Amino acid sequence: MQYERLVEWAKSVWQERYPDVEALTVWASGDCSNKIAQSKIKAGRRLRGKARYDGFEVLECDIITPISDCGLRNQRVVLTATSGAYAFRFIDHKGETFEVIYISSYFDDDVQDLTAVALVPEGRLDTWSAFEGLCSKTVRPRIKRRRDVYIIGGIDAFFDPSVEWDDVILPDDLKRKISDDVESFFNEGVGIYKDLKLAPFRKLLLAGVPGTGKTMLCAALAKRALDQKRLVVYVSGADRDGASFDKIQRAFQAVASAKFPTLLIVEEFDAYLRGDDKARILNVLDGVESPNNAKGSMLLATTNYPEAIDERLVKRPGRLDRIYIIPPIQDETQALAMLKHYMGEHWDESHSVITPDLVDQPGAFVREVALQARMLAAHNHQREVTLELLQQSVRNLSQQMKAERDFLLQRRPTGLGFGNKRDRRF
Ligand SMILES: Nc1ncnc2c1ncn2[C@@H]1O[C@H](COP(=O)(O)OP(=O)(O)OP(=O)(O)O)[C@@H](O)[C@H]1O
Ligand SMILES: [Mg+2]
Repeated sequence: MQYERLVEWAKSVWQERYPDVEALTVWASGDCSNKIAQSKIKAGRRLRGKARYDGFEVLECDIITPISDCGLRNQRVVLTATSGAYAFRFIDHKGETFEVIYISSYFDDDVQDLTAVALVPEGRLDTWSAFEGLCSKTVRPRIKRRRDVYIIGGIDAFFDPSVEWDDVILPDDLKRKISDDVESFFNEGVGIYKDLKLAPFRKLLLAGVPGTGKTMLCAALAKRALDQKRLVVYVSGADRDGASFDKIQRAFQAVASAKFPTLLIVEEFDAYLRGDDKARILNVLDGVESPNNAKGSMLLATTNYPEAIDERLVKRPGRLDRIYIIPPIQDETQALAMLKHYMGEHWDESHSVITPDLVDQPGAFVREVALQARMLAAHNHQREVTLELLQQSVRNLSQQMKAERDFLLQRRPTGLGFGNKRDRRF
């Protein structure tokens, strides 16, 4: 569908109805034909500039096929973006009525955005643009009420921001750097960005092989954000829509309209950078569409595949401001801290013998070793977890990982050393 055909059709309707009135042909917002806007904005609604909206008429149109999206709003499924042809009526402050002829359509199957044009009588652009603005505001997911965590693309169970900062075991200086980055941005940085006339939006990427604690770190940072009365928006790729650009856009809109400092978390960020979406993401990360929330917003993204993230994203500061590598266990001190944590009350000094075997493993490995040993001890009615059980658990898990790795490498080399994330979880 070419936009010229939309214009041609709108002009023919105009000609039929108002042959003596001049009209301007303008690009219009696809939000005017959104069903949410149409159901929420009632006839009689006052617009900026003292005009009033007076309802709409659905127009017969043989060049487009109306079609609607549906989505969740306030836990209910409703019709949302819709292509269609309408006459919108308005009444000005003197009581004169006038119409705008509007048509929206999808250009092709791969483009998700609506293209819309409108024929607006001369001198009526102010009213029309006030109406468009109202439609867009109504359609946008807005954060009006204070709620803790907003999940885009899933249910609350997908993300649990209850992890304590102290339970994340990583090198101290790395934890401190990340924490300083977040706090200095929200406390002092927002003002500095504004002084420089920049939108206060900072973007961090946590990169690392599976199981090193990236999700845990996000959850701990989210918990701290909530404790500081900041909002958390979490984008989940776990529902049937997967990783779609639409979700990122919705998240950005929600963040922009939030009246609070906001932490936006997007896990497995690489999954959103596919095909055409990659270019669109580049644009929204540093373009005019990037969220301009006066209280400050921070994007916290995670990935297993930093190499899948576009060079243009990684190499140009401003698109992603900082990349923090979240490493596997670095040394025996860290291994010991992790093991003690997961052994809990079953910890015994003799267990420290296995710490050299834990270096270079992800935290998830230690958790599984400890869990398996503790379960086996309980199963054998042993009150204590012996060093032998722990060593056996390390051997079992290492063998199992090796077997899985060999199996996966036979099928498809991954080059990451931990197998494919979706194939192996700890
Ligand atoms: N640094 C860590 N400190 C404490 N526990 C950890 C750490 N890393 C991993 N774990 C344990 O392993 C589990 C899995 O880790 P997590 O899901 O955070 O890894 P991830 O880096 O997000 O992995 P993926 O890349 O596969 O998403 C955690 O829930 C936690 O129990
Ligand atoms: Mg994760």
